[in-house]
Amino acid sequence: MFYELFSKILFALEPETSHQITTKALKVMNFFPVQEFEKFFLCYTSKRLKLNVWNIEFPNILGLAGGFDKTGELYPVFSNFGFGFIECGTFTPQPQEGNPKPRLFRYEEHFAIVNRMGFNNPGIEKAKEIFLLQKKTIPRGINLGKNKITPNHKAKEDYIEGFQLLYPFADYFVINVSSPNTPDLRKLQSSKEILELINILQKKQKDLNISIPILIKLDPDLEEKEFYLILESFATSGIDGFILTNTTLQREEMYKNFEMGGLSGLPLKNRSTMLIKKAYRFLEGKIPIIGVGGIMNPNDALEKIMAGSSLIQIYTGFVFGGPLFPKKILQYIDNFLEKENCKLQDIIGIDAKI
Ligand SMILES: Cc1cc2nc3c(=O)[nH]c(=O)nc-3n(C[C@H](O)[C@H](O)[C@H](O)COP(=O)(O)O)c2cc1C
Repeated sequence: MFYELFSKILFALEPETSHQITTKALKVMNFFPVQEFEKFFLCYTSKRLKLNVWNIEFPNILGLAGGFDKTGELYPVFSNFGFGFIECGTFTPQPQEGNPKPRLFRYEEHFAIVNRMGFNNPGIEKAKEIFLLQKKTIPRGINLGKNKITPNHKAKEDYIEGFQLLYPFADYFVINVSSPNTPDLRKLQSSKEILELINILQKKQKDLNISIPILIKLDPDLEEKEFYLILESFATSGIDGFILTNTTLQREEMYKNFEMGGLSGLPLKNRSTMLIKKAYRFLEGKIPIIGVGGIMNPNDALEKIMAGSSLIQIYTGFVFGGPLFPKKILQYIDNFLEKENCKLQDIIGIDAKI
């Protein structure tokens, strides 16, 4: 009831203001001994939901998507919200203000959000300071981007800087080349530069004797032919995983009047699921996929797994569904596995195999 009242107030406010209030409230929670209370009400644990991917033990397969915890400060509190992993960032080498406000728009009746935030973040040095103060709990992904002022031909250096400074804190890295809100960023998806970057990062890992999976996050608006070419070139370069997908710039007729920027939530759901299926089939299930885009109810989550996602993430669904949403999803998947007497591994990609 308290959450319903709180969410009514939040939804009446301008979206970015309510996001700021929520994140401030969450940060304050870090300082109170409420962890056990949070865990009791919000977490759902089951052996059936644990999964080992890239030699990482995920306590469950549901993560918080990139862009919610843009500073990394929410990692400790979200560890108690039932998530199996948290992706922090996107971080760029230099701090960035992002695009002018307003830049975040909520469409409640469509279960959708449009954002054109533009990688507002404190920069990698500050992120390091923040992570140094945190106790490691669940797996933490670190999502890297390039600064707006960095030209594409120098983008590689920004990602390398991010990797070098933040690798002690990352269980996996995401090379984000798919945000629609940094000019020309998406062009990097099909560039030789980024393939070279993967090689450089692999070599650096060998020198440092570490092994941190490197994932690439793709946009959902790629033409089919280009999508397959990109999958193929990254697969050959030895990428460890794909995140499918970022927000879309496409607007079906009913969303035609929406603001400009990346659209997420329900309007993205089918497109993202379709691309996950195509990628799973194309890659023959050999490279793990994190499925994200429009998971608005527990069955959507199951669909993403059956389409080929080893792990899944939520953003917009969490905004609309509130703090109990992760628990509802996990409970639903667990009940399904129990009823069908099967394991997660049995259902990953089952819909893509036909
Ligand atoms: C307000 C907002 C900010 C986002 N910022 C980032 C970001 O910084 N980096 C990133 O990789 N994805 C970002 N995303 C994309 C999400 O991680 C996710 O890929 C997308 O929203 C689709 O999932 P959803 O439908 O569950 O929201 C952002 C999404 C939203 C709504």
